Amino acid sequence: MIGLFDSGYGGLSVFRVLKETLPDTPLIYYADHEHCPYGQKSKEYLINRAEKITEVLIEQGAEIIVVACNTATAAAIDHLRNNYDIPFVGMEPAIKPAALSSITKAVGVLATEGTFSGKLFNETKEKYAKDIKVVIQPGTGLVELVEAHKMHTYKSWQVLYPLLKKMKEENVDQIVLGCTHYPFLFEDIQKLAGEHVTLIDPAPAVAKQVVRIKETILDFPEKGKAQFYQFITSHADVKNFRASVLKLVDVNDDNTLFAYDWS
Ligand code: DGL
Repeated sequence: MIGLFDSGYGGLSVFRVLKETLPDTPLIYYADHEHCPYGQKSKEYLINRAEKITEVLIEQGAEIIVVACNTATAAAIDHLRNNYDIPFVGMEPAIKPAALSSITKAVGVLATEGTFSGKLFNETKEKYAKDIKVVIQPGTGLVELVEAHKMHTYKSWQVLYPLLKKMKEENVDQIVLGCTHYPFLFEDIQKLAGEHVTLIDPAPAVAKQVVRIKETILDFPEKGKAQFYQFITSHADVKNFRASVLKLVDVNDDNTLFAYDWS
């Protein structure tokens, strides 16, 4: 079983790719709604949440954990790797593919403030984008839009327009979606940025990394095992949670468990 977690629904953008890539593998997803958003929380706070969630996921049988959140990856992945015996896969800011593909030599990155202040982002930028202009923009308000299912609305355009202004002025031709919530706003961002701009969702690269780990180091159940999905939220409103998950990912309700956890 593979576990995933995020502050809310964002990591479902990774879940949906993993489900397609590994259709016979049970997945368990933890949405930390009681503590959402993560974007401006301290490193200590996020490490504490990551530990609590990791323990729940391991207790439920997770053998690999995907930190399906850029902010939590930046704050907590080193700590998790040092303290637990299972493999962790995190979200990498996709600056390398963006920089390699850019013709205008200008790329944009949308992410949370927590991600921009982390060592991972700054090291990746330093390593792969030395000769490239990197326009960074905190995606203020975007997590809230996705959590409230306000994608593809007038409101989503109102929030996105000022966030993309600087990137347009700098003529970026690649935009890295550096928060797992943002792929749910893909169409809106594409429309406002223009068709000539390529948006990079890191989820397929993360899924590939999970496959590599799964194939090389773990003895997973054989192919053919019935699909089984579990979704856990730290907010008590499981009814609303279930309805939202079913809107965002294609899972069969009969095969799926929804639960509340108060850790
Ligand atoms: N989806 C998250 C990320 O990738 C968390 C955003 C938030 O809760 O602020 O960064």
